Amino acid sequence: MSARGHAFGIDIGGSGVKGAAVDLTDGELVHERIKIPTPQPSTPNAVAEAVAKLVAQAGWEGPVGITLPSVVIGGIARTAANIDRNWIGTDARALFSAALGGREVTVLNDADAAGLAEDRYGAAKELTGLVVLLTFGTGIGSAVMYNGVLMPNSELGHVEVGGQEAEHLAAASIKDRLGLTYPQWAEEVSKVLVTLENLFWPNVFVAGGGISRDYEQWIPLLTNRTPVVAADLKNTAGIVGAAMAVDAGIAP
Ligand code: BGC
Repeated sequence: MSARGHAFGIDIGGSGVKGAAVDLTDGELVHERIKIPTPQPSTPNAVAEAVAKLVAQAGWEGPVGITLPSVVIGGIARTAANIDRNWIGTDARALFSAALGGREVTVLNDADAAGLAEDRYGAAKELTGLVVLLTFGTGIGSAVMYNGVLMPNSELGHVEVGGQEAEHLAAASIKDRLGLTYPQWAEEVSKVLVTLENLFWPNVFVAGGGISRDYEQWIPLLTNRTPVVAADLKNTAGIVGAAMAVDAGIAP
């Protein structure tokens, strides 16, 4: 963290590599978010180049926190559900650090980063007990937190619901691909939430991802029993969580 309490976060998604310096006193971005289209194919080397370009564009010289849509253990990506398969087994921390001139880098799962950010600055700020954040996007990401402590790499989007993976049933991308209405999609999301609440019994679900901007159109239609609140930070949660992780030395 810089003297001014700033840290830098980058969120790597299927369509964009997005980053900014974050003021850790309030979780606000210090400048407008910089976005570079995710290279296609999104191979490790191509993405590392995009990361280096983004950090140079921002003129940032300190440590950097980076998310991946993957299980990340000890800096190594272990899965790649919605990103190039070559990430599996890649030492992402070493790759990004080398691309950034050897500086300190922390790499973590994208939904885990969003969970950390919502927990400190957003929708889960006042919540205690077991909080399960789900991000609805290309896939479904998850962060499981108990009184603010993250249990990393939970991967609840891959839980089986009625014979299918949850994210194949109820990701936001499925709504688009099948042309589902909000009531139709909310029915599928409810099935996923019922499966998860029967396993975890959370105090609350936090619903994130781009589609949480339209929460009024679908959260009231959910029929599961646990309260569901919309995420607050919307498209900055991954960036903010990545910045928090590198500042706090959280490296799952
Ligand atoms: C991946 C997760 C990721 C989520 C959201 C899932 O397909 O397995 O690691 O958090 O998508 O990007």
